[in-house]
Amino acid sequence: MSGVLLVMFERRPLFGALIGLTLIVTVWHMSFQEATSGTSSSSSFGSSYRESTNIMPPYMPASSLALSTPTHFSPALQQPSLDGGVSAGMDEADGGVLAGGSSMVNQSFFPLLLSSILVNPLEMLPKDDYNNLIDIKDFKFIINFNNCSAESGRIHHESVGTDRIKMVDERRSPLVLVLVHSAPTNWYKRNTIRDTWGQHDPRAKLIFLIGAVNSSVLQRRIKQENRLYDDIVQGNFIDAYRNMTYKHVMALKWFTYHCPEAKYVLKADDDVFVNTPVLYDVLESASQRRRLLFCQEISKAPVKRTHRSKWYVSVPEYRYKYYPNHCPGYSIIYTPDVAFELYREAQQQPYFWIDDVHLTGTIARRINVTITPTGRMLLNQNQKDAILDKRLNATDQLFFFTTPDLREDEIRRLWKAVTFSKNGR
Ligand SMILES: *[C@@H]1O[C@H](CO)[C@@H](O)[C@H](O)[C@H]1NC(C)=O
Ligand SMILES: *[C@@H]1O[C@H](CO)[C@@H](O)[C@H](O)[C@H]1NC(C)=O
Ligand SMILES: *[C@@H]1O[C@H](CO)[C@@H](O)[C@H](O)[C@H]1NC(C)=O
Ligand SMILES: *[C@@H]1O[C@H](CO)[C@@H](O)[C@H](O)[C@H]1NC(C)=O
Ligand SMILES: *[C@@H]1O[C@H](CO)[C@@H](O)[C@H](O)[C@H]1NC(C)=O
Ligand SMILES: *[C@@H]1O[C@H](CO)[C@@H](O)[C@H](O)[C@H]1NC(C)=O
Repeated sequence: MSGVLLVMFERRPLFGALIGLTLIVTVWHMSFQEATSGTSSSSSFGSSYRESTNIMPPYMPASSLALSTPTHFSPALQQPSLDGGVSAGMDEADGGVLAGGSSMVNQSFFPLLLSSILVNPLEMLPKDDYNNLIDIKDFKFIINFNNCSAESGRIHHESVGTDRIKMVDERRSPLVLVLVHSAPTNWYKRNTIRDTWGQHDPRAKLIFLIGAVNSSVLQRRIKQENRLYDDIVQGNFIDAYRNMTYKHVMALKWFTYHCPEAKYVLKADDDVFVNTPVLYDVLESASQRRRLLFCQEISKAPVKRTHRSKWYVSVPEYRYKYYPNHCPGYSIIYTPDVAFELYREAQQQPYFWIDDVHLTGTIARRINVTITPTGRMLLNQNQKDAILDKRLNATDQLFFFTTPDLREDEIRRLWKAVTFSKNGR
C-alpha cells in the first residue's frame, strides 16, 4: 500500500499543475478543432437517447473502440507526452494498488486525456439496447435526467483566462460516478448519505437507483424528493428483492448512456460508509487505470440450498455448488471499460437475481476481468468500532470502505471522524 500512501501525501507543486493545464488545453484544442466539424456532444435533458447514440466524437478513431486492447491510441493524442508520460501511465503496473506513476506532470494531464479516448462506444450496442433491460423489452426510466456534471459550470481557472479553459471546465466530467442502490422507502438512508459521504463534491456525481413502486402516494413522494435533490433514477421494473440484478444493470446502463465520461464508477448500497475524501484524493492523484474491478473479494462461496435461507437458490436457477469469485455488492469500484463491458455482456446473458454474484462473478469471468482485492483499504469491524468509540484516530487509518449494514448514526459519526481529522491535519 506504500504506493497509495506516497501518492496521497504528495503535494503537487503549482508549476506541475500549470504544465498539465497547458497540455490539457493543447490536447483539447486539437480535439475541439476536429469536433466542431461534427455533432455537438452536449445533449440536454429531454432529448431522446437516439440522438445521443449517434454522438461519436470524431476525434475518437475507430481503432480505439477496441477497449480490450490497451495499445490502440491515436498518435495525435500521444504527442504531448513528456518523457514518455502517456505510455508509462498506461502500463498496468502490478502490485494491487490503484496508484500508478507518481509524477505530477503525468498525473495532472492524464485523466482528461484518457477520458477522450475511453468514451464508451455506444455503437457497439444493438439499436434497441436502451429500451431493453436483460429480458425486459419495454424498459423505461420513470425518473431520469441527463446531467452527469457534478458542477454547475463555474469557471475555476480564470487566472489563465482563455476561452478554451472555460470550455474544458464547463464540460468537466466527474472523477467518480457514485451509484447507490436504494429501496423506494429508504428516505432517511438517502438523506444520511446526502449529508455525509455523498455530500456535494466537485469531483463526484451521486445518483440513487430505485425501482417502480405500487402506490401512487409513494410515487408522488419519490418525485417530490427528486425535485428537491435531483439525484434519483427510477426504472420501470418493480423494486423487489429478486429484481436486484435489474437495478444493477440499470445502474450500468445509466453510466453507459448518461455518464460515460466518468473516470471511475463506484457502486454502493445505502447502508455503507465510503471514505470519499480519501478515495477521491487517491483516485485523483493516481494515473487512470483500466480493467479494474476493486472490492473485497469473496471466494468459494457455497450456493445456499436450504429453503429457509434468504439466499436460497434452486439448482435450475444456478447449477454449480459454488459461486465464482465475486464482489459483495455493498462497495465496488469499476473503471469505465469494465463497467461498459459488464453492461454489454449482462444484457445478453440469462437473468440471475443475486446481482453481485451475477455481475462481478459470472459476467466478470465471461469478460475476463479479475478482481483487485481491497486489502487494507477495507476497514475491519474492530477498527471501525474503535473509531466510533474514539479509541482510534480516523486519520491514522488509510481506508476507502468499512463493512456494511451500518446504522444511520454510525454513518454520521464516521463522517465526523474522517472530516474532523482531515481539517485538523
Ligand atoms: C511519468 O511517469 C513515469 C512512471 O511513473 C516516470 O518514469 C516518468 O519519469 C514520468 N514522467 C515525467 C515527465 O515525470
Ligand atoms: C447538473 O448537476 C449539478 C449538481 O449535481 C448542478 O450543479 C448543475 O447545475 C446541473 N446542470 C444542469 C445543466 O442542470
Ligand atoms: C400492488 O397493487 C395491487 C393492486 O393495487 C395489489 O393487488 C398488490 O398486492 C400490490 N402489490 C404489492 C407488492 O404491494
Ligand atoms: C420484477 O420486475 C418485473 C417487471 O416489473 C415484474 O414483472 C416482477 O414481478 C418483479 N419481480 C418481483 C419478485 O416482484
Ligand atoms: C481470457 O483470458 C484467457 C487467458 O488469459 C484467454 O486465453 C482468453 O482468450 C480470454 N478470453 C477473452 C474472452 O478475452
Ligand atoms: C488523534 O489526533 C488528535 C489530534 O491530532 C490527538 O490529539 C489525539 O491524541 C489522537 N488520538 C489518538 C487515539 O491517536
